[in-house]
Amino acid sequence: MFDTSRLTRFLPPRMQSQIDAYFEAFEVLLSVKDPKVLGALGPSGVRGLLLHRGKQGTPTDMPAAHTAHFNWSYPSDQPEMADLYRRAKVGQWNGDDLPWNTSVDPLDPERPLIPEEFLSFEYIEELGIKLDKEERAELGYSMCAWMLSQFLHGEQGALFAAAQVTEAVQFFDGKLYGATQVMDEGRHVEVFNRYLDTKLNKLYQINDNLFVIIDSLMTDGRWDMKFLGMQIMVEGLALGAFSTLYKQTKEPLLKELLKMVIQDEARHVHYGVCALREHFTKHLTARERQEREDWAFEVALLMRNRFAAYEVYEEWFEGRMTRAEWRNVVYRSKGMEEFRTVMFSRLVPNLREIGLLSSRIMPRYEEVGLMRYFGGLAADKLTAETLLSDLD
Ligand SMILES: [Fe+2]
Ligand SMILES: [Fe+2]
Repeated sequence: MFDTSRLTRFLPPRMQSQIDAYFEAFEVLLSVKDPKVLGALGPSGVRGLLLHRGKQGTPTDMPAAHTAHFNWSYPSDQPEMADLYRRAKVGQWNGDDLPWNTSVDPLDPERPLIPEEFLSFEYIEELGIKLDKEERAELGYSMCAWMLSQFLHGEQGALFAAAQVTEAVQFFDGKLYGATQVMDEGRHVEVFNRYLDTKLNKLYQINDNLFVIIDSLMTDGRWDMKFLGMQIMVEGLALGAFSTLYKQTKEPLLKELLKMVIQDEARHVHYGVCALREHFTKHLTARERQEREDWAFEVALLMRNRFAAYEVYEEWFEGRMTRAEWRNVVYRSKGMEEFRTVMFSRLVPNLREIGLLSSRIMPRYEEVGLMRYFGGLAADKLTAETLLSDLD
């Protein structure tokens, strides 16, 4: 990306960051090649990236218009979804039963929230910024609280999206299953919020890129776009992110919380693959499928390139390094690299499975280094047990 710091270095740090953020936003919007995709993502991009609607400190109202689909004959139409519904009922759990009496010290070196090497301090030192032991632990605490805050905001989006999709989807077994997902997402909001509020005492604002994605799928009336956005993209990536954090954290309550959430999320992504495979391969025209394919690619890029924890940068380093330098620190850090690898190794096979990785789009994934994940297992072949045993 264009480094604005040479042009803006004589301006105050806050203004430098603003200009870098604007350039980044324009770059995102200009990179969208398909006009229909731009139509779907553009207004959300303006609201999220330029107007920072998620950061005004006030609630956000998003107009949502979709068609509620009723079926008065109650067909058993999708055995795979009916099976997921049965499993979801049995798999319900109570957030109150997590070991909340665990005392959590976010700076405890014996039980770190994330490993010290999560961020590569040598890159920060190269910029002439030296952090002592306490500051490193504090920064790790900030990064972990930032990630969990984004999970929480994502879960709020998932709760509303699951409710909308339950109304709109045409599969009757999917509606029953969807009711369990609404409950699951409500519980996820509850437990992440409780953890942040009572254990970490910290909440970061929603990241602008995540806001764009949520805004875009909330305001899109087509159920399958909501589904693609939430069940495949956001949840697929979240599942990867939860697993990475589950593996890396030494804090026992957080580990247990993530373990429970991962088991639910595995069902959600499975449902997404199952519903969209049916819909994309049987019910869409080639043009409609292509639009979804392009949209998914742009969203994948939004997520790959832009999740740079700028909110942590503003708190810690604004004025001490440029936003572009921070981006570099994040991209080169081992922990973040592992995050990206796990996230995309979960997402890409799902896109393949639902028919959104045709030979037309493959070169673009190749270009950005994402094709190496093509051969992995999709969510319908991955059980929660395999997911967790991979991680133990
Ligand atoms: Fe969730
Ligand atoms: Fe979910």
